[in-house]
Amino acid sequence: MTVIDITAHHNTTNLDKVLKEIAEELSDTMDMLLPSPDKARSGERRLFEAMRYAALSEGKRLRPFLVVSSATLFGVGRSCALQAAASIELIHAYSLVHDDLPAMDDDDTRRGQPSCHKKFDEATAILAGDALLTLAFEILSDVTTHPDSQVRAELIQTLAKSSGCKGMVAGQMMDLLSDNQDFSLEEIAHLQRMKTGALFATSCEAGAILGKAARPLRNALRGYAQDIGLAFQITDDLLDFKKSNVKGSGRQNKSEGKPTFVTAMGEEKASTHARMLCEQAIAHLEVFDKKAEVLRELARYIVERQR
Ligand code: IPE
Ligand code: IPE
Ligand code: MG
Ligand code: MG
Repeated sequence: MTVIDITAHHNTTNLDKVLKEIAEELSDTMDMLLPSPDKARSGERRLFEAMRYAALSEGKRLRPFLVVSSATLFGVGRSCALQAAASIELIHAYSLVHDDLPAMDDDDTRRGQPSCHKKFDEATAILAGDALLTLAFEILSDVTTHPDSQVRAELIQTLAKSSGCKGMVAGQMMDLLSDNQDFSLEEIAHLQRMKTGALFATSCEAGAILGKAARPLRNALRGYAQDIGLAFQITDDLLDFKKSNVKGSGRQNKSEGKPTFVTAMGEEKASTHARMLCEQAIAHLEVFDKKAEVLRELARYIVERQR
């Protein structure tokens, strides 16, 4: 496949606007759905505060963007889309809380702030993660997410599969075991598709499920999301690699010893591969014509982003 120069005609203004809009609406939705610490008893208060700390901090909100933008393709009501988006973002937030724990990546900061276990303590961070995870499914099962119980059941099953033992959690397990291992490119791609790609795919699929989209359309979105998910992870590793190479940054390369596309193919080839995936992702969207423009823009942003 030929690699097209996607930087030449990239205009982020519309994407920036839509990303910002969805991020704001998502924060309002999560604020409403998360339990309030006001008037709560002290044990509950601490748990609720830790949940809010982790979920409401400033993330890029890419998964919610995918849910809402995909749902928009099928004319789904905004509040339904936002509730599904919030539940996926809660799963993401829980995964980050647990990922930062000393038993896993042992990271002291997250999103430019102390990580949850640093701000609170380890036990609170574990429990806050558990509570965010379960709250996600409580939201999806609520009638306000979709009036049709079959749609709700499908959302729940899809999210459970992609975030659990055959998806993200398995990807995290593989990631932990990958330290200093000599993985093939295929194995690296598999790990990353599980760790990151699965939740991206479910984000797009959730929009299609809410809109009762026909199978081929749902599959097209899934294909798109899988490709940008992998491209996203490669870019993440490239950014990590670049930061760790800045002289005097004092920053340890967190992924040191971990096999990534960057360690396996080198910086330049990894970057080219991410761009190829981005073009491949865009090709999946042909059926949606102009309606999917913002999703195309996101694919380009994914490989060009600097944070
Ligand atoms: C970080 O995801 C974890 C990975 C899957 C690589 P994001 O980069 O989407 O994190 P936030 O939500 O913007 O903080
Ligand atoms: C984050 O993965 C957690 C999940 C994808 C579940 P990483 O460990 O690769 O990402 P950062 O660097 O902590 O954000
Ligand atoms: Mg990790
Ligand atoms: Mg980590």
